Amino acid sequence: MANIIDGKAVSAQVKEDIRIETEKLKAQGIEIGLAVVIVGNDPASQVYVRNKEKACEAVGFNSYKYALPEETTEQELLALVDKLNNDDKVDGILVQLPLPKHLDDKMIINNIRPDKDVDAFHPVNVGKIMIGDYSFLPCTPAGVMELIKSTGTQIEGKECVVIGRSNIVGKPQAMLLLHQSGTVTICHSKTKDLKAVASRADILVAAVGRAKMITADYVKQGAVVIDVGMNRDENGKLCGDVDFESVKDKAGYITPVPGGVGPMTIAMLMKNTLTAGKDHHGVK
Ligand code: GUN
Repeated sequence: MANIIDGKAVSAQVKEDIRIETEKLKAQGIEIGLAVVIVGNDPASQVYVRNKEKACEAVGFNSYKYALPEETTEQELLALVDKLNNDDKVDGILVQLPLPKHLDDKMIINNIRPDKDVDAFHPVNVGKIMIGDYSFLPCTPAGVMELIKSTGTQIEGKECVVIGRSNIVGKPQAMLLLHQSGTVTICHSKTKDLKAVASRADILVAAVGRAKMITADYVKQGAVVIDVGMNRDENGKLCGDVDFESVKDKAGYITPVPGGVGPMTIAMLMKNTLTAGKDHHGVK
C-alpha cells in the first residue's frame, strides 16, 4: 500500500504560516484583501468560491464577494474589474472560471492588473512563470510541488510525466518541474502509447479530466502519483483521474481525491494574495 499524501494537512500548515504572517502585518496596520467575482449559478463554481471565502477568513484576509447574475454584460463585468483594479483595499482579484458562454474568459483575465492577478492567469504572469522569474505561483501546479516536496522526493534528474496540457495545470506544471531540473514529458490526447510513457515516470501528475482513467498499468512501481482530477464516477461520487484502488498498491506515494490537490490550490491562492498585499504595501 502506497503512502497517502495528506493534502489537507499540508495545506493547513501553509495556511497557518500565512495566518501568522497576516497577524503580524495587521499589528502594523496592514490588511490584506481578496475580491472574488462569480458570474451566474454554476454549482461547482459556487462551492469553490465559498471555499475561497472560508480560507480568507481562516488566514485573516478581508474577502469581498461579487456575485453577478448570469446575464451580466461584458461591459458590466469589465467595469467591476476596473473598479477593483483601482481599489486599494483589494490586493488580489479572482474571477471564477468558467464564465457564462457570452463572456470571453481570456479578454476579462487580460483586463485584471497583473499585480492583482492572484490566479497567475494573465499573460504577463504566465510569461514570468515560463522564464522562472515570478512572484505569483500558478496555484494548482504550485500545490502539486508542495505535495511532492512533502514526500521528501528529490525532483532533480527524475522522470516526470504530466498528463494534460491545459494552460491552468499541465503547461505550468511542466515548467515548475523543469525549473527543479526534472526530465519532463507532457502527454495529451494525441500521445501514442500513453501507458508506455506514463509508466516511465518517477513522478506522475494526472490532469486529464477523465474519471479513474489512470490504472495500475500506467504506473511505475514506487512512483509518486499526484491526481489533479476532480470528476464524478458512475455513482455520482467525487473521484480523480487516477483509479485509486488499482494504483494504491503500486505507487510509492499517492494523493487521494478529495483531500489531495484540491485544498492545496486554495492554500497557494492565499499565498499569492499575501504576496500581492506585501508588494502593494512595500513589505519585503
Ligand atoms: N475554476 C476552476 N479552477 C479555477 C481557478 O483556480 N481559478 C479560477 N479563477 N477559476 C477556476
